[in-house]
Amino acid sequence: MISIIGYGNLSKSLITGLRNGNYSGDITVYDPYVTKKLHKKITLKRKLDDDILKCKLIFLGVKPNKFKDIAKSLQNITKNTILVSLMAGISIKKLRELTHISRIARVMTNINCAHGKAQSFVFFNSNCEPKDKKQLIKIFDDVGKTYIVSSERKIDIVTGLTGSGPAYVLYILEIICSIFEKQGFNKKMSRDLSIELFDGTINTCKNDERSLEVIKKSIVSKKGTTESALRSMKKDGLQKILNKAVSSAIKKASKIGS
Ligand SMILES: NC(=O)c1ccc[n+]([C@@H]2O[C@H](COP(=O)([O-])OP(=O)(O)OC[C@H]3O[C@@H](n4cnc5c(N)ncnc54)[C@H](OP(=O)(O)O)[C@@H]3O)[C@@H](O)[C@H]2O)c1
Repeated sequence: MISIIGYGNLSKSLITGLRNGNYSGDITVYDPYVTKKLHKKITLKRKLDDDILKCKLIFLGVKPNKFKDIAKSLQNITKNTILVSLMAGISIKKLRELTHISRIARVMTNINCAHGKAQSFVFFNSNCEPKDKKQLIKIFDDVGKTYIVSSERKIDIVTGLTGSGPAYVLYILEIICSIFEKQGFNKKMSRDLSIELFDGTINTCKNDERSLEVIKKSIVSKKGTTESALRSMKKDGLQKILNKAVSSAIKKASKIGS
């Protein structure tokens, strides 16, 4: 049995993933603002009552700037509760200071949890017991791959890489899609073709152990079309643009809670 505070984009993806996977326990969700329940097998609460607060695992899925609003309500929960923060940027120190909860885990997952393909990074504070850890890891194993990190700083790093990552991939996908459209393909076909292009390429990489660079080189022939496009991207500084963008996300992640 778990409870989740905040029924937003990430919580919904996580619940979808858990329900599509092996998790059959009760899920109770608290969100005072929500108007529509999307999942059948959950209990949705508009009050932060004991059904939420007595759960062993309480997930926090609100935006970081809303955390203070609910922190006080969490101050009297039982000693062996584990607070699982899904939020970007709020440190364990801050979480403890404002909730007085001693067992805390920070998890950075992503929306790919909805269909079993999340990358979830978990940092446990020193008060978490081995059996707590096992229980939480199992939940995230149900929605993708789980990686335990031994430093909290790593959570900020993956926030900017894999937490936000699906948005970067989607942005590039959107650009490719718009190029198909500009070249005369209709909207639906452009969407399908772009997704197939990514999906096919990922599939190639999954089935080919060579480095990404070597696989890429296998497409390039001297003075050919691919070489011309890649040279243009390099000249316009695509790598620099992406490096700068991701670094700014990582920097932001480490600053949110301070
Ligand atoms: N979205 C992602 O892909 C992603 C990835 C990694 C990490 N995260 C982290 O996950 C957290 C949630 O992100 P999100 O994108 O799911 O945000 P979101 O869609 O805004 O969801 C947050 C939900 O919590 C509700 N809420 C606001 N104040 C509340 C309160 N006091 N008590 C209970 N519920 C409250 C919000 O209602 P209103 O909309 O009415 O305010 C909203 O339904 C963030 O901290 C973010 O850093 C998100």
